[in-house]
Amino acid sequence: MNARSAPAGEERGIPLPERQAEIRPGEVHVWHGTLEASPDAVTPTEESRARRMGSPRRRREFLVARGALRRVLAGTLGIDPLLVPIVQGAHGKPRLGSDRRPPIGFNFSHSGDRFVVAIALGMEPGVDIERIRARRDLAGLARWSFSPAEQEEVAAAPEPMDAFYRVWSRKEAVIKADGRGIAIGLDRFDVNAGEPSALLDARWEGAAPGEAAHWSLHSLEAPSGYAAALAVRRPAVEVIVRVPPPPSG
Ligand SMILES: CC(C)(COP(=O)(O)OP(=O)(O)OC[C@H]1O[C@@H](n2cnc3c(N)ncnc32)[C@H](O)[C@@H]1OP(=O)(O)O)[C@@H](O)C(=O)NCCC(=O)NCCS
Repeated sequence: MNARSAPAGEERGIPLPERQAEIRPGEVHVWHGTLEASPDAVTPTEESRARRMGSPRRRREFLVARGALRRVLAGTLGIDPLLVPIVQGAHGKPRLGSDRRPPIGFNFSHSGDRFVVAIALGMEPGVDIERIRARRDLAGLARWSFSPAEQEEVAAAPEPMDAFYRVWSRKEAVIKADGRGIAIGLDRFDVNAGEPSALLDARWEGAAPGEAAHWSLHSLEAPSGYAAALAVRRPAVEVIVRVPPPPSG
């Protein structure tokens, strides 16, 4: 995988142009796409991170995914993909190393050959896409990763597999919006499996009284065979899908 020549100081904050004014406060822009291997748009720092990854498959996935993320952010910001100042934040959550106010929050997810990017002003979105695969031990997986209320709802659902992936993608979106990842405690909050999607209760460390009411959770339209969700700690947001997923089927 060949990286194009990289800018100096990707870890430094750089001033960004005004182009992101296209995203208005209260909006979350969601970009869907298919992972494509070229052209590459990763920096030497990202290449050396990839080299430290165990398997060639994981390495290739990371580079292709990071290139996709850079291209979407670059299109929104109106700058070269290699100049997008992506830095690693707390708990590994990537953020823009820019001192622009309001700050631009973004999040990224990929699964199978699909990716989703969410971008917002002054908010931290969390996004997740999951390729739906038949799982033999659904109950066991749910026991490991879902709260008791979520396990019950999935077990009682008419289509437990679909319900399982709806819950999974919603929980991932929430833990990624928060930024702590699984350290937040997967059993310390409840999402629903039905529609409309909602964070029902949050008992994690640092939760405010009535924490769940501060959040919005959205199912995202996804291609057939995928489930996707978006979460943000703001009671109401407008979700704007910038590139619609291809027709299902
Ligand atoms: C990041 C994490 C929360 C999700 O990873 P994932 O579902 O395997 O993969 P996704 O593609 O959806 O997300 C990975 C991307 O999220 C972003 N990310 C990394 N750490 C993050 C964090 N703490 N918060 C938000 N986003 C993060 C990065 O862009 C990362 O992509 P990269 O590795 O190319 O840099 C991972 O740390 C994790 O804990 N995964 C397991 C979660 C789990 O067991 N869930 C059970 C059901 S809820």
